[in-house]
Amino acid sequence: MKIKSLKLKNFRNYDLLNLEFDDFTNIFYGNNAQGKTNILEAIYISSTTKSHRGTKDKDLVQFGKDESHIEIIVDKNKIESRIDIHLKKNSPKGIAINRLPIRKASELFGIINIVFFSPEDLNIIKNGPSERRRFIDFELSQIDKIYLDNLTNYNRIVNQRNHLLKELNDKKSQEGLLKTLDVWDFQLADYGTKVIERRNNFIYEINKIISDIHKKLTGGKEELNLIYEPSNGKITLEEILKKNREKDLRIKSTSAGPHRDDICFMTQNLDIRRFGSQGQQRTAALSLKLSEIELVKETMHDTPILLLDDVLSELDKYRQNYLLDSIHDIQTFITCTGVEEFVNHRFSINKIFHVCSGQVSKEN
Ligand SMILES: Nc1ncnc2c1ncn2[C@@H]1O[C@H](COP(=O)(O)OP(=O)(O)OP(=O)(O)O)[C@@H](O)[C@H]1O
Ligand SMILES: [Mg+2]
Repeated sequence: MKIKSLKLKNFRNYDLLNLEFDDFTNIFYGNNAQGKTNILEAIYISSTTKSHRGTKDKDLVQFGKDESHIEIIVDKNKIESRIDIHLKKNSPKGIAINRLPIRKASELFGIINIVFFSPEDLNIIKNGPSERRRFIDFELSQIDKIYLDNLTNYNRIVNQRNHLLKELNDKKSQEGLLKTLDVWDFQLADYGTKVIERRNNFIYEINKIISDIHKKLTGGKEELNLIYEPSNGKITLEEILKKNREKDLRIKSTSAGPHRDDICFMTQNLDIRRFGSQGQQRTAALSLKLSEIELVKETMHDTPILLLDDVLSELDKYRQNYLLDSIHDIQTFITCTGVEEFVNHRFSINKIFHVCSGQVSKEN
């Protein structure tokens, strides 16, 4: 999969931008706050409909403008598709694939497969469980539409259930509402069980890939193994919902289920979320990202698009080289402040763009 071109209009600090990319390495360099990440963000939105920074649509539109437009041409097995995103200040966004408007955001998922890698990703093991869940959900949503559907339904029902738990204060309507709670619990257990099953399977697939990568990255010193940690422990979701019913009514929130699960990272019988050194945690995070790329390749029978936002300067030379060597067959978009360090390492930098105040110039 390759992104051929990107056009932006009134997006962030770009009035108008029209870029054609190389099929392999594309580097964007420039000082801080010039618009490098904004370019990766536009690509990310074209894959997922949302900003990786969690920015609202209205804030993506250039200051003082009402609407912005992203247009991307992507080549998948020699077939070109065009994706258009119209972001609006005061109304929901419009998305079209090959000029045909889509109704559900999920229709866009899977057209462009993205692996995004930023310095924050290096903290995924150190940070809390929500980041690890976000990682697994992001990845699975791209490669498995059924998962995305089950997850969306699950999350909707958790919200509705929590809402109901808050309403249950009112004693008069208690009985009717408790019956509704039974209905939610039944559906929650159904969708939730499917979500957990698929996540378990994902972890199983990642484990097959990550152990080799991690061994190489640590010079053969460390074995890395991921374990899915369900918040329902050894009992089923249905059972835990029953067991926690009183507690949930008291705290007015759903205390167990896939929205509370975690992934444990073990090296040599040590849970490195708690006991790993910072370097160990970051190396394991890099192994995870590299495994993610491999897994997308295997699952989709195609290479994903890799976005590296300021991440290379965070890695030592050995890890930088390892990463760059592993991605030689993938279209990559790299942002950095200085370009010299790469030119020395990198055998084939294909296109270099200089970014300055919302203007991009090609250098070679
Ligand atoms: N809606 C918007 N309209 C106009 N400009 C915006 C908007 N949102 C952000 N910007 C501008 O975009 C610039 C930031 O762009 P970006 O995050 O791409 O920088 P960067 O080149 O990646 O910098 P760094 O090296 O610090 O990461 C800032 O100058 C900011 O003011
Ligand atoms: Mg940036």
